[in-house]
Amino acid sequence: MSFENLLVKTENAICTITVNRPDKLNALNKKTVQEIEAAVKLAIADVSVKGIILTGAGQKAFVAGADISEFVGLSAEQGMAMAKAGQDVFALIEQSPKPVIAAVNGFALGGGCELSMACHLRVASDNAKFGQPEVNLGLIAGYGGTQRLTQLIGKAKSMELHMTADMLTAQQALELGLVNYVTTPELLRPKCIELLEKIKTKAPVAVAGVITSINAYYNYGIDGYAKEVSEFGKCFSTADFKEGTGAFLEKRKANFTGK
Ligand code: COA
Repeated sequence: MSFENLLVKTENAICTITVNRPDKLNALNKKTVQEIEAAVKLAIADVSVKGIILTGAGQKAFVAGADISEFVGLSAEQGMAMAKAGQDVFALIEQSPKPVIAAVNGFALGGGCELSMACHLRVASDNAKFGQPEVNLGLIAGYGGTQRLTQLIGKAKSMELHMTADMLTAQQALELGLVNYVTTPELLRPKCIELLEKIKTKAPVAVAGVITSINAYYNYGIDGYAKEVSEFGKCFSTADFKEGTGAFLEKRKANFTGK
């Protein structure tokens, strides 16, 4: 199968899925989210694949978020549908019976941070930056970020990052437990391969059982995800959302009014 916005390659039983829109910092447009779903489903179904690496093309970004240019003109209902569709794809990744590692090679912002958090493990290069900057746009996270960041780093820091839009360095992400390892950009892929090679030697059914059981700890499907969908959708009917996304696309500072 060929993809417009992904590179997919399987080598030594490891399938690498690379989001390939480097001139847009690998921002996730609708097509890319659909392609990630298809590529992950294929990798899960392929008996020769034992593990998956998700990464971004280029030196600068893993994924710099959902594609803001596709937000323009969306209604609250369309915003909710967008969040639900993205959440479903990210849940597919999280529930993959095969291990999925995010190789975070640069900016992991908004939907990019959320994509990395849907993976089972995260390895970051030392130039990586993590954040949930949606409030800058008059929005909140919509692809599970309010839930998974809280699971990974706790309520206090999750609240702070979502409300301030501050970015974390790779080292700060390591200290908070958001990532498993930090490496140089050169050693990023080798570290992911080393982890998957080790997991490959274990019983696949047991590994799948680990994934299902640990996910069950978080009672997957609890109301928090539905709440995120409705709150994300609500933002689309505000003037501040139009101002925030408009300001990003026009490359100027947003002036929020609370309307
Ligand atoms: N959606 C759409 N386009 C995006 C994007 C996104 N999330 N993030 C980056 N891009 C585009 C830029 O518009 C720019 O396109 P252009 O060259 O056609 O103008 C290109 O990618 C390069 O980005 P640029 O902003 O010029 O790079 P930078 O180094 O100055 O800044 C970031 C990098 C990541 C700080 C900045 O791109 C940014 O803030 N992106 C948005 C992050 C965000 O809010 N994500 C959450 C979305 S819900």
